[in-house]
Amino acid sequence: MNLAIVGSGYVGLVTGTCFAEVGHRVICVDNDLKKVHSLQDGHIPIYEPGLEELVKKNVAAGRLSFTTSIGDAVAASTVIFIAVPTPPQPDGSVDLSFVEGVAREIAVHLTGEYRIVVDKSTVPVKTGERVAQTIKRYKPDADIDVVSNPEFLREGSAVADLMNPDRIVIGVSSDRAIEPMKEVYTPFNAPIMITDLNSAELIKHASNSFLALKISYINAVAAICEASGANIELVADGMGADKRIGRAFLNAGIGYGGSCFPKDLSAFIRISEELGYNFRLLKEVEEINQDQKDRFLKKIRESLWVLRHKKIGVLGLAFKGNTDDVRSSVAITVVKALLAEGAEVKAYDPKGMEKAQALIPEAKLVATAEEVADGADAVLVLTEWTDFKSLDWLGIKKRMLSPLLFDGRNLLNPEEMRSLGFTYTSVGR
Ligand code: UGA
Repeated sequence: MNLAIVGSGYVGLVTGTCFAEVGHRVICVDNDLKKVHSLQDGHIPIYEPGLEELVKKNVAAGRLSFTTSIGDAVAASTVIFIAVPTPPQPDGSVDLSFVEGVAREIAVHLTGEYRIVVDKSTVPVKTGERVAQTIKRYKPDADIDVVSNPEFLREGSAVADLMNPDRIVIGVSSDRAIEPMKEVYTPFNAPIMITDLNSAELIKHASNSFLALKISYINAVAAICEASGANIELVADGMGADKRIGRAFLNAGIGYGGSCFPKDLSAFIRISEELGYNFRLLKEVEEINQDQKDRFLKKIRESLWVLRHKKIGVLGLAFKGNTDDVRSSVAITVVKALLAEGAEVKAYDPKGMEKAQALIPEAKLVATAEEVADGADAVLVLTEWTDFKSLDWLGIKKRMLSPLLFDGRNLLNPEEMRSLGFTYTSVGR
């Protein structure tokens, strides 16, 4: 099929590339000329395992192309996906101006032929209805259907998630859109769920909020483990063995971050309020997530007493492992708090340093993991990079002034670290 994706950011680029990989002809649109040129030259602006190879392969095969022209994309494509940012606003609601702007631009370029406009950006319930109204306002005789098709990919495993999805959700307001949408997704071999427009939009917000709830729940239980001497990993394993609960997203740590969960939770709370429901449960999820960072910082203060002029080595700046994304990263928040208290921070991340530098200019970013330990009063693990597990931890300890190790992601083995001579502290263990 001929498909267009408007917005070549994280979601748009990965989705467009995977659509091309299964045989569709895809035009990716972005209004950033520099980005389009660099994509045309094969340069990928984000680190995502497997993406660069797939982009190059599909560009070479003539199935994937990049342009700044929405007009060309609308003319060539039956199905047009909107995958533009929906950034948070100070009051927690979502800024939908990019979605609205693209809807207007699509309207201008419609010529009378049937088109399906699909919202892939994460949006509050009832946005699809607004998109349809907007297109009709600017092109009253437009022959279109608006569809909601939320994405469930995780950064760091986005290509794998997209190529092997658990389910495809397609929210429609008319039956006419169902067959072409099924044709888009048939090659992915996953269950396709057809819903109404509003339910599809809610599935996305409700799913992300539920996953964040699982994380806050296990973090709250971790606090009880610390107070009672129980071990959160054994508790999570025991809970997770129940199929109704599942082990995934029960890893305790310093809390969730990233460009999705914090924003989507606030947006869901806000839209619920607008619809007349006070979503107190999710407000508590946010509070627990905030507490988690504070509790971690408290442990560091309890050991080091005064942070001013203390040398602290930080491993991990990205919001999770396998990504260079540092947006709303808890690691960055923790580093900022340490700097604000006068600590001297040396930090390392396998992929996220370039993007982190501007956010924490006072921190010294070093080229290897080992260097953060030089003369350090304490070392902190703030991102769950598996690479950190296989570091030469004895060598790291020898470089430190005092062997205090704070593992905010429960990445390392407590017995092993203690046997190496570290005073090792993690979360709920
Ligand atoms: C999340 C969802 O998992 C995706 O399904 C969704 O498509 C995506 O948001 C989105 O809305 O675009 P993502 O933000 O990429 O994906 O990353 P996650 O793997 O969900 O991790 C989010 C945060 O939770 C990270 O900071 C991670 O460290 C933390 N986390 C995750 C935990 O603290 N414990 C866990 O057990 C799992």
